Amino acid sequence: MGYFVLSSSRELLSWSCITSFTESLIAKLRNPLKRREVLKWSGLLATTPFLKYTSVRAEESQHIVEFELTAKESVQNLAGPEYPDTRLWLYNDRLGGPFIKARQGDLLQVRFRNQLPVPSTIHWHGIRNVNAMDGVAGLTQDPVPPGGEFTYTVPLEDAGTYWYHAHTMAWEQVARGLYGPLIVQGSDDIEVDQELVLILDDWRLDEKAQIDEASFRNMHDWSHNGRLGSWFTVNGRLQPQFPVSGGSRLRLRLINAANARVLRLKLEGAQGTVIALDGYPCEPFPLEEHGLELATAQRMDVLVDAGPDTFKLQEVSTNQTLTAAFFVPDATTRFSFPRPALRLPKVSLPSLDLQQARRIPIHMQGGAMGNLREVTYQGENISLREAAQQYQKVWAFNGQVMQSTTRIADINLGEWVALELWNDTAWPHAMHLHGHHFWIERKGTILSQKRDTYLMDPGEQARLLFVADNPGLWLFHCHTLEHHVSGMGGVFSVS
Ligand code: C2O
Ligand code: CU
Repeated sequence: MGYFVLSSSRELLSWSCITSFTESLIAKLRNPLKRREVLKWSGLLATTPFLKYTSVRAEESQHIVEFELTAKESVQNLAGPEYPDTRLWLYNDRLGGPFIKARQGDLLQVRFRNQLPVPSTIHWHGIRNVNAMDGVAGLTQDPVPPGGEFTYTVPLEDAGTYWYHAHTMAWEQVARGLYGPLIVQGSDDIEVDQELVLILDDWRLDEKAQIDEASFRNMHDWSHNGRLGSWFTVNGRLQPQFPVSGGSRLRLRLINAANARVLRLKLEGAQGTVIALDGYPCEPFPLEEHGLELATAQRMDVLVDAGPDTFKLQEVSTNQTLTAAFFVPDATTRFSFPRPALRLPKVSLPSLDLQQARRIPIHMQGGAMGNLREVTYQGENISLREAAQQYQKVWAFNGQVMQSTTRIADINLGEWVALELWNDTAWPHAMHLHGHHFWIERKGTILSQKRDTYLMDPGEQARLLFVADNPGLWLFHCHTLEHHVSGMGGVFSVS
């Protein structure tokens, strides 16, 4: 099965798509975006930051947003009417996940019920969470057993595009569908007429359109590029059509929920401006013809002014151009266009004194076609071949196969940290830090973006810079979920 089972005739079919999940949000908010945190940054340097939420009791006047998420087996039509329904694992029977939406400053309270046949937990990806609510089984909580429950109380301090997903055997549970979008609206969000949330995934299905279970522990996937799928969906649907108002200004919130695939996305028939990466506002830049990479777990927010004509979101990471979604303006143009130019602020960078940063070198090694021959695993030196054959481990940090609780370093609360990454492997890795956002320094330049997941190209060296201002045990791992389980991810302790 090739990449994405699509024939060109399928592209002509129209897909009804509007569900409450893709409902449009009319932003009522006036001010152009400005960035509180950039401004706060110098303050962080001067003082020892204290965690706002030492407990997760709601502060008075804090708005509590309640949701229930029930994880269970669910049979849905994923692959279209000519295929049988697919047995999936979903939250609330919702393909693409129930849409959680809240406002900055809210306290999110989610009652999670596990009706799966296996233990599970939920991670709130990109949220600078309270450690006990981070959802990492075996590290921040016990896994919730089948039939069990757990209530997550998550402070939403930052506005932006986030998502949540299973974090117990994530390489299997996410691939079966356990994820959804989490959107936090801010009072300083840019004003738009309509917002659309698009969560993208590539599913690995067998000929009967069932989740390919036989390949779940496939060492070839684990040591190469991870589990790539062949059925490409947006919000659980193939090529959905989104009705939009002609002439309206749209904010597309794009989320890559694939286990492993690095997408490359572009617009056809409209101009897009990228305004946020991983939820965090960036120096705005045009979404170019060749597209922008969106690694697994990453998000990007794109502003688009819709004209009178249909435009498309396309995936161009392979030599095959795939249409991910259509945007279809209605007949009546309700807004004048072109729209007035946006007044977008400059994102200012922190002035970093790297002398004062704690430098933590992380030599990323292993995988197929790499130079790693021997590793330390559970205190023993063994060959990488043996680690692979005996223990299904193929990746390492600094020569050591990492497990979900292996300590990388102990960091003092408030300390500046420079993670000095060197991707000495033949594969890209989307490196994700829990509980913090980081700046990226590449070739001596700090990029004007702040992220929670950064894609390291093969051979690349980069520094991730952050203030460890959130106490607890935090994972740092590759978000190619097969790489994580087979050795690429460990723990920072911040205290
Ligand atoms: Cu999105 Cu450790 O996860
Ligand atoms: Cu990786």
